[in-house]
Formats: sequence, structure tokens, C-alpha cells
Amino acid sequence: MHIGCPTEIKPQEYRVGLTPNAAREAVAHGHRVTLQAGAGQGAGFTDHDYVEAGAVVVDTAEEVFATADMIVKVKEPQAVERKMLREGQLLFTYLHLAPDPEQTHDLLASGCTAIAYETVTDSSGGLPLLAPMSEVAGRLAPQVGAWTLQKANGGRGVLMGGVPGVSPARVVVIGGGVVGTHAARVAAGMGADVTVLDRSLPRMRYLDDTFSGVFKTSFASAGNTAELVAEADMVVGAVLIPGAAAPKLVTRAQLSTMKPGAAIVDVAIDQGGCFETSRATTHDDPIYDVDGIMHYCVANMPGAVARTSTIALGNATMPFMLALADKGWREACADDPHLMAGLNVHAGKLTYFAVGKALGIDVIAPSLALKQ
Ligand SMILES: NC(=O)c1ccc[n+]([C@@H]2O[C@H](COP(=O)([O-])OP(=O)(O)OC[C@H]3O[C@@H](n4cnc5c(N)ncnc54)[C@H](O)[C@@H]3O)[C@@H](O)[C@H]2O)c1
Repeated sequence: MHIGCPTEIKPQEYRVGLTPNAAREAVAHGHRVTLQAGAGQGAGFTDHDYVEAGAVVVDTAEEVFATADMIVKVKEPQAVERKMLREGQLLFTYLHLAPDPEQTHDLLASGCTAIAYETVTDSSGGLPLLAPMSEVAGRLAPQVGAWTLQKANGGRGVLMGGVPGVSPARVVVIGGGVVGTHAARVAAGMGADVTVLDRSLPRMRYLDDTFSGVFKTSFASAGNTAELVAEADMVVGAVLIPGAAAPKLVTRAQLSTMKPGAAIVDVAIDQGGCFETSRATTHDDPIYDVDGIMHYCVANMPGAVARTSTIALGNATMPFMLALADKGWREACADDPHLMAGLNVHAGKLTYFAVGKALGIDVIAPSLALKQ
């Protein structure tokens, strides 16, 4: 198969769909890899790295899209990229179609087959191509929160680990899933006093069994949450209700109960955020102040550490990318129901029910698409 990887063009996106190591494996499997010049630059990979891996480097995205059988990317194709997709071409990337009717209509019109990273599943009910980015955002949250707490940034001027004779920062993490667990581990590693709130008892049992002594757990009742938030130096928002907007768990009125200069890091901002006062920010201007509480609400946190994120994403996508290239998408999806769960669009038809429901578009079963 001829695999193509263009440079990401969404603003502030520095990741790349294929690492040199992924390109090397694809070439070893007998495939052809074409990369747009400079595509890996934001993640610290040179064109030479890809050439050494056996890829061909071309100047323009047009050349990549015109020749490749499968396009491997990171972000959803932008309008100008969607115009370059063609019938029968395979697209493997994050899509997030449900809130994006324009993109959905363009993909349907293109006739391409699109497999979305975010809906590929695994045998434990997880989302293996989303998890690495949650791991990155989770581990980054205490790091950016610690920076936000610094006086020059409007913060409380509290050091995460304290020093001998001075108490460490109190960190409260709301939501103990992938983001929350990684945030709690790193915050605890920095020496902070950490409590994770969740509403799932099985999840808290798991956290307690695994991390007892590293951080505490507490049930996320409204009362408990209010009490812990009021005592915190940093609160990390990490809740997710699959398929729904994040619940607002901390109101604006509650900010007045918090310590002046405390930091909120709302990682769940990509689902609307779990604080009433959260609004999405960018890496250029990441923090803002509401009632003396500093908010960090960057919607694409992994972009700040593009190299780590690219490699983590590449590790997770590589087996699927190779299966698609080795077998073709029909056989690869027929063999693996978890990959089949990623199929969102085929030949002008939607194949993912939740997207169809959100956008009011008819859907065909993915199994039917395999036969078309
Ligand atoms: N901003 C970014 O750059 C970025 C990057 C990655 C992930 N995210 C977002 O972070 C959020 C968390 O992702 P995740 O992968 O950890 O999800 P996850 O499903 O692994 O974890 C979510 C947790 O929230 C808990 N929860 C649900 N409702 C709750 C409530 N009312 N109170 C307390 N806990 C509650 C669940 O029990 C679960 O343990 C998602 O919105 C995700 O999209 C954002």
C-alpha cells in the first residue's frame, strides 16, 4: 500500500501522523511511504530521519494526497485537505465528527473511507487511540498547574512539594480516569498532598489498591467536592461522561470559598469543562483570572509536548496502521471488531451511529459497508 503523511495545518498543531519508526516498519512490511517535507519538524523529526527510514519526501500536500492509498494524520482534515480526498482513499486520523457537520458532509461527498482514532476500541472497553493523549494531558496538568501557581503568573506562590518545615501544595483531582490518575501520580511525585475524587467505587477501589500511600481517594459527592476544593491550592478537572458534555461540578460562587491565587487546570475543557467559569484557551495565552482564581484551560494540551505526544500516539496507532496497510481496510476491519469500531465513513455513507444521531444523518452498519 502507498501510505501518505501530510504536514498538519491546523493552527498550533505540531504533531505528525507517522514517526520515522512507524515509517520504517511500514517500509519493512513492503509498503511505500510518502511524507510531505517538514511534516515531522514540529515534533523534532527531520526529513532526513524519514529518508533514512525508507520514506520518500515530497514538497506539497497535494502530491501526498494525489498519490497515497491511505492518508495517516493527527487532526481532522481541514477544508482544504478535504477537497483533496478522493473516492476509495483511506483516511486514518482523529475526526470527532459529531460536533462537526461541515467536515462530515465533506467526507461523505469525497467518497473516501475514514477510520477515526477516537472510536477505535479495545477488549477492556477502553479507547486505545485516545488514551495516550489523556496520559500526556494528565501528566502535563500538574506541571502547568505548578507554573500557574507561581506568583508572576497570578498564582498563590506555593511550591508543589513545599520544603522541610513548609507544607506541600494541596492538589485535588476531580475524576480518577486516565487523565486523573496520571495527574495524581505526577502531582504526588512532585511532593504535593493529593486527593482524587471520583463517583465510581470500583475505580476508587482500583486506585486505592494500586496507589495507596501515593495519593488519597474520596467520593465525589457535591459536599465532599466543595470541601476539598475550598482547601486546595490546585484543582484539576478530569471528569468524563462518555458522549456527553462535562458536568459543571464547581460553580462560580464556589470560587469565593477557594484560596486566593489557587490554580484550576480544567483538562476536561475539550468537553466543555467541569468548572462553571472555564472557557477554552490556547498555548499562546493559556491562563486567565476569575475572582482571583487562576484558570488554565488549554483544549489541546498534548500539543505543548508535541514530540512526546507524537511518539505516544504513533506507538498506539502503529499496529492498526500496519494491519490496514497489510490487509486492506476491509479485511483488517473484518478481522478486528475494535478497528471496525473506528469506521465512521465509507463511500458516501456514515457508518457510526452516534455521529448519525448527533447530526441527523442516516447510518449504515459498518458490517454492511465491508460488503460495498
Ligand atoms: N485538554 C486536553 O488537551 C485533553 C487531552 C486529553 C483528554 N482530555 C479530556 O480529559 C477528560 C478526561 O479524560 P479521561 O481519558 O481521563 O476519561 P476517563 O473516562 O478515563 O475518566 C473519567 C473519569 O471521570 C469520572 N467521573 C464521571 N463523572 C464524574 C463526576 N460527576 N465526579 C467525579 N468523577 C466523575 C469517571 O468515573 C472516570 O473515572 C475528557 O474530557 C477528555 O476528553 C483533554
